[in-house]
Amino acid sequence: MSLSLSFVMFTQFLFLLSLLSLVSAGSFSSVQPLCHDDESFALLQFKESLIVNQSTSTYSKISLWMAQSSDCCTWDGIQCDENTGHVISLDLSNSSLYGSINSSSSLFQLVHLQKLNLSINNFNHSEIPVGVRWLSKLTHLDLSYSGFSGKIPSEILQLSKLVSLNLALNPLKLHKPDLRSIAEKLTNLEELILSEVDISSTVPSILANLSSLTTISLGDCGLHGEFPTRLFQLPNLKSLNVRFNPKLTGRVPEFNRSSPLEVLRLTGANFPGKLPDSMGNLQSLYELDVKSCNFSGPIPSSFANLTKLMYLDLSANIFNRGTLSWVGDLRNLSILNLQYNNFHGRTPQIFMEGCKLGMITLRQNHFEGLLPRSLANCTMLEVLDIGNNHIIDIFPSWLGILPELRVLILQSNRIHGFIGKPETIQRFPKLQVIDVSNNNISGKLPFEYFQIWKAMQSFDASHLTYMQANGLNLKTSSNGWLMAYIYSMTLTNKGIKTKYSRIQDFFVAIDLSGNNFEGEIPIILGNLKALHMLNLSNNVLTGFIPPSLATLTNLESLDLSQNMLVGEIPLQLTELTFLAFLNLSHNNLTGPIPQGKQFLTFQNNSFYANVELCGSPLSKRCANSEDPPTPTSNFEAKQGLEFPFEFGWKVVAMGYGCGFVVGVFVGQVIITRKSGWFIKSFAIGRPTGRRVKWRRCQK
Ligand SMILES: *[C@@H]1O[C@H](CO)[C@@H](O)[C@H](O)[C@H]1NC(C)=O
Ligand SMILES: *[C@@H]1O[C@H](CO)[C@@H](O)[C@H](O)[C@H]1NC(C)=O
Ligand SMILES: *[C@@H]1O[C@H](CO)[C@@H](O)[C@H](O)[C@H]1NC(C)=O
Ligand SMILES: *[C@@H]1O[C@H](CO)[C@@H](O)[C@H](O)[C@H]1NC(C)=O
Ligand SMILES: *[C@@H]1O[C@H](CO)[C@@H](O)[C@H](O)[C@H]1NC(C)=O
Ligand SMILES: *[C@@H]1O[C@H](CO)[C@@H](O)[C@H](O)[C@H]1NC(C)=O
Ligand SMILES: *[C@@H]1O[C@H](CO)[C@@H](O)[C@H](O)[C@H]1NC(C)=O
Ligand SMILES: *[C@@H]1O[C@H](CO)[C@@H](O)[C@H](O)[C@H]1NC(C)=O
Ligand SMILES: *[C@@H]1O[C@H](CO)[C@@H](O)[C@H](O)[C@H]1NC(C)=O
Ligand SMILES: *[C@@H]1O[C@H](CO)[C@@H](O)[C@H](O)[C@H]1NC(C)=O
Ligand SMILES: *[C@@H]1O[C@H](CO)[C@@H](O)[C@H](O)[C@H]1NC(C)=O
Ligand SMILES: *[C@@H]1O[C@H](CO)[C@@H](O)[C@H](O)[C@H]1NC(C)=O
Repeated sequence: MSLSLSFVMFTQFLFLLSLLSLVSAGSFSSVQPLCHDDESFALLQFKESLIVNQSTSTYSKISLWMAQSSDCCTWDGIQCDENTGHVISLDLSNSSLYGSINSSSSLFQLVHLQKLNLSINNFNHSEIPVGVRWLSKLTHLDLSYSGFSGKIPSEILQLSKLVSLNLALNPLKLHKPDLRSIAEKLTNLEELILSEVDISSTVPSILANLSSLTTISLGDCGLHGEFPTRLFQLPNLKSLNVRFNPKLTGRVPEFNRSSPLEVLRLTGANFPGKLPDSMGNLQSLYELDVKSCNFSGPIPSSFANLTKLMYLDLSANIFNRGTLSWVGDLRNLSILNLQYNNFHGRTPQIFMEGCKLGMITLRQNHFEGLLPRSLANCTMLEVLDIGNNHIIDIFPSWLGILPELRVLILQSNRIHGFIGKPETIQRFPKLQVIDVSNNNISGKLPFEYFQIWKAMQSFDASHLTYMQANGLNLKTSSNGWLMAYIYSMTLTNKGIKTKYSRIQDFFVAIDLSGNNFEGEIPIILGNLKALHMLNLSNNVLTGFIPPSLATLTNLESLDLSQNMLVGEIPLQLTELTFLAFLNLSHNNLTGPIPQGKQFLTFQNNSFYANVELCGSPLSKRCANSEDPPTPTSNFEAKQGLEFPFEFGWKVVAMGYGCGFVVGVFVGQVIITRKSGWFIKSFAIGRPTGRRVKWRRCQK
């Protein structure tokens, strides 16, 4: 046999083999058929019509198409029917796609599609093309957060097989067709997710005829009128979200134990009246968010039976009694927010062993008595805010054993006595915000604590993120996105009561104002180098302002007003380049006000009511003998002060504006902008570094 003959046979064999693989595209083989040429072509055309945004670090599923193989069924994001080889699922979510789309797009040639997911992309304000009607086999359509705008076309109603429709987080309008036509035509729907779509209508009761519904998400849709009570009772409903519809009113009905409800979000809608006792029947409920809903009366005692509950936000209502205290088992609770209500009596006694709470906010109620010592069981606690209540207690040094505690707010209560020394185990290892202002604490400033508050001594600003719950991992049935709970707090900063709907991870603050602290400001305070805000005002502090405060190079706000401080203002303070707010008024300071640098930005209200202070910006002029010191003079000699520790004169080489507005751009998109509490981590907006804006005050 010659070599050439065997070669011919070999090529024939190859030919047969490839024929076989083609034939196997028929029904008599288990080998998966290859993708159809026309669909492959349509996919590539679709790819060509779009740009991949290279500025994101997100992996784009289309980037390796073709390179992977010529069989489109193997490409990323594509699924073919095992028997026919037709493309039945296209998932290009989160693929950094950018570009416009219209009905001539080759996408609409993929008529066998059952699932189409284009969420988390940027379709450049395109309208949803009417060509979508060609995809009549669609069961799942997800265009959420993908930059579509304009009217939702009535052609969408022709997709009668739809089980899941998600158009949320786009500037879309659902007017004609409206919600009623959706309910009438798309009767197989299990998931209806239209949050932030402009609907501006009432909620048609016919929606409750869709007995398959598991998820209704209509947050921030401009809904009004009476919410159909029957919707709560849909037999398969797991997740109901109608928050941020301020003109929506309703009533929470009775529930029985067959309800599968897991998530209930009503925030901002108007539901006057009580929560029914039968809510205790919601055995699967893990998230209850009824902030600002005009609820009143007591929390039903049956809540003790909500053992799955992880997230409970009853804030800003008129609840008056918490029967949470003979607790059943709220062991799984991570977030407890009862602030801005009318609660009386003792604080809830639910902090049993194994407590998983990450945040407890009882702010602005009428809670009385001692701080519950059982809080020490909550070893995951990160944020505790009991401000504006009637707690009568001494300073809770015992909270110092909580290893994760970052924010402690006890302002405007009746905390009294000396703070004293911490015990060895009470180290507050992660504490970065403490506010015990407007209480009745006396004695010296707690300099032993200033020594051990390590998290205030150095910080890592490389993580430009917000404080968020670590332990909490709320799955959300409305979409698969991982949600994070962003902590919030209220603090007086720069003389203004400020609601922080997000707290930067490296924000550090001490507010001890409005007490009876006496004695001198400890030099050691200069060690807390990460401080952004220091408020010691309205106490009876005496002695000098320690020049060591100038080592607090991150300080944005310093308030020492209304004390009995004496001596000159240390010239070193002019080096605090971030300082936007300074209040030294109502003391007994003397001598010339330092001139130059940051001090050029302060007005006379920073200094007034110090009889012996002189120089700009005050009108009182200094005598010749006391020329205002400027940063070039030898201030150490002039102040006659010795520094007990080495000064880190690291002047931030950024100049001196009148303080900073630091805009930190984080790789996160705030989804529920109204509360700002949930974020979704997207790869769309990656950290682009720190953007620093400042205002110039000097003309
Ligand atoms: C998008 O994809 C990136 C990885 O490419 C991932 O880190 C990110 O979490 C994804 N975003 C969402 C919302 O799924
Ligand atoms: C985005 O839309 C604008 C306005 O319609 C258009 O000018 C631009 O070409 C579009 N960009 C892309 C990539 O399609
Ligand atoms: C649809 O988009 C393509 C490009 O993607 C464009 O060439 C065509 O003119 C558009 N058609 C209409 C009707 O706008
Ligand atoms: C919706 O359900 C109600 C009550 O079950 C029924 O009377 C009504 O006919 C239904 N409407 C439609 C359009 O199916
Ligand atoms: C529970 O309530 C639903 C809706 O109200 C009702 O259909 C169902 O029959 C009730 N189940 C029981 C066991 O009462
Ligand atoms: C709260 O409900 C009462 C009726 O119970 C009503 O008069 C009041 O207007 C409601 N408040 C808001 C803010 O909707
Ligand atoms: C909790 O549920 C059990 C069983 O259904 C019931 O007997 C008990 O009364 C409920 N507890 C409260 C406080 O409602
Ligand atoms: C806490 O939640 C988990 C997960 O949902 C559940 O398995 C567990 O039973 C819950 N714990 C209690 C005490 O109910
Ligand atoms: C922790 O919880 C247990 C059980 O509820 C309680 O007996 C104990 O007193 C709590 N611990 C503290 C320190 O309060
Ligand atoms: C679409 O993709 C997103 C992001 O990957 C995912 O969370 C979502 O569940 C998908 N939607 C559907 C309907 O599968
Ligand atoms: C201010 O200091 C002077 C001298 O040290 C003292 O006589 C005076 O009483 C002080 N005034 C106040 C209001 O503390
Ligand atoms: C591309 O991605 C960057 C970074 O996430 C983003 O800022 C920009 O807006 C995106 N461009 C478009 C056109 O989507």
